[in-house]
Amino acid sequence: MDNRKIGVFDSGLGGLTAVKEIMNLFPNESIVYFGDTGRVPYGTRSKETIVKYTHDDINFLLSQDVKMIIIACGTASSAALPDIKGEYGVPIYGVVDAGAYEASRVTKNNKIGIIGTTATIKSGAYEKYIAEYNPDAQTFKKACPLFVPLVENGHFDTPVTKLVIEEYLKDIREAGVDTLILGCTHYPLLKKAIAEYMGDSVKLVSPGEEVAKFLRKKITPENAHSEVCDEDRYSYFVSDSVESFEELGSIFLETKINGKVNKIDIEKY
Ligand code: DGL
Repeated sequence: MDNRKIGVFDSGLGGLTAVKEIMNLFPNESIVYFGDTGRVPYGTRSKETIVKYTHDDINFLLSQDVKMIIIACGTASSAALPDIKGEYGVPIYGVVDAGAYEASRVTKNNKIGIIGTTATIKSGAYEKYIAEYNPDAQTFKKACPLFVPLVENGHFDTPVTKLVIEEYLKDIREAGVDTLILGCTHYPLLKKAIAEYMGDSVKLVSPGEEVAKFLRKKITPENAHSEVCDEDRYSYFVSDSVESFEELGSIFLETKINGKVNKIDIEKY
């Protein structure tokens, strides 16, 4: 038994895609979430800055007495995780490995699209894992930097979102991929509009959900939470406005998180 929390972080709302699935799969576990809303986006920043932010986020979660940390951010998982692995006393899992594994497994025609932030696409992290899991796969990639501000402003399925989707995904659709990795954890919040554009035959892979499934191998009777926790088992922290996170987070999680979100000064960690 280990009744400590699972720590999850992202630059903003995106990591809730992992949280939602962890809640589904592990209803006994308690979760502490940090969304670095004061410093979002991460994906347009240098590797050095992303590594620094990742250290701050991990240090904050460690202050909350966590037993493991999920980096529910494609950017931090691609650009920072390889450098920091093993530096901390708790296991730390990123989303890239799990997402690449699932895409490699489900593709039938071995044509996989990868979309993500500029930093993620530049890192080549998804291709590295795909080459390992499915050496026959061909990859087609595209950075989609406008998707994150669209999500953070609640444009999940509006005309402007549809326009941007077409602009970014045209070439990948034409390439005939049958699988598309939504390689930034914000993107599943646009899933409905992306699915409509890509068509029914294209399988969308959400690495945030996949890392939650991967935890099945990591949460064992020895380290699971001992009992069904009460209502207070989920807590949320942000580094900017509490209100907008409460509003959009409640829509996405389909449960009210009002009153459970607190603001912190992340620069102190
Ligand atoms: N949700 C994040 C990711 O998966 C970060 C997006 C951003 O901050 O640019 O990459």
